[in-house]
Amino acid sequence: MIMGEMDMELAIKSLTKKYGNIMAVDNISLTISQGMFGLLGPNGAGKSTLMQIITTLLKPTAGQVLFNNLDIQENKPTLRKQLGYLPQEFGLYKKLNAWEFTDFICHLKGINSKKARHIEIERVLRQVNLWVNRKQRIHGYSGGMKRRLGIAQALIGNPKLLIVDEPTAGLDPEERIRFRNLLTQLSGERIVILSTHIVSDIESCCNQLAVLKQGKLIFTGDQQGLTKKAEGKVWKTRVNEQDLNTMNANAKIVSTKREQGYLVIRYLGHRLLGQESIQVKPTLEDGYMALTQAAAMEDSHETAVL
Ligand SMILES: Nc1ncnc2c1ncn2[C@@H]1O[C@H](COP(=O)(O)OP(=O)(O)O)[C@@H](O)[C@H]1O
Ligand SMILES: [Mg+2]
Repeated sequence: MIMGEMDMELAIKSLTKKYGNIMAVDNISLTISQGMFGLLGPNGAGKSTLMQIITTLLKPTAGQVLFNNLDIQENKPTLRKQLGYLPQEFGLYKKLNAWEFTDFICHLKGINSKKARHIEIERVLRQVNLWVNRKQRIHGYSGGMKRRLGIAQALIGNPKLLIVDEPTAGLDPEERIRFRNLLTQLSGERIVILSTHIVSDIESCCNQLAVLKQGKLIFTGDQQGLTKKAEGKVWKTRVNEQDLNTMNANAKIVSTKREQGYLVIRYLGHRLLGQESIQVKPTLEDGYMALTQAAAMEDSHETAVL
């Protein structure tokens, strides 16, 4: 980093996007600084819409986004030069190999000199650990390799802002971990925004995070802050088979484990009457559940008697 260089910052200001009557993004304000940022939310929360606005592919209905104090809508070419994007639905040309594919993307990004393209292809393919596979057809790649190639194309031009939309979908646990580690590595010198509906995707790597639900920003902060949302609301109890249905109707059950003929239940919300429940320490997942299910949990409160 150059001495005295300003820290990178993405500022989202009162951003709204409507599709007809649907409020996909509802008056969101959020500041994101260098490093990994996790954007968490259930399907339909507005994550992809928000990301498409940040990439300038979509125009907001109201509000603005500033990257290092420049309005992105008014400075599209400048922004796009600093941007890498891996969309949620990303098609690769399966008949090509990784070399041919990244060469093609270099052409699209306007890198006209063959020498410059070659330097760039080698740099990005090495970065995502696909250099040895460069001559292999994409067709034969695993899910994790395809996703890494998706990242490689996004890294062409060395962007300062890297946006990846639900990149872990369909990856097996091992590929997931490798992929998250790669993103963490890449976040050393840029802003990386990772969207997901899976809490464990952000657990190991994102210290800054936000939660979206139905277009609204319902949380922004760090992992401890999100975990705290479930403090005093997580309970563990032992029930037998018959009691499980009644519990299901009255509590938000987060896990069920069989132990010595009983079922050990972890649930969220108020302590169920008639249950010998003990309070337990919340996890990040509990915090997320407590936050996103808050309305549902209030509803069940009234009838929470076994
Ligand atoms: N092009 C579109 N036209 C109309 N509605 C859309 C369009 N894209 C998304 N939506 C709606 O906007 C909301 C947010 O969608 P999206 O941004 O894809 O959420 P997420 O990525 O969190 O799943 C959803 O209700 C979705 O159905
Ligand atoms: Mg999406």
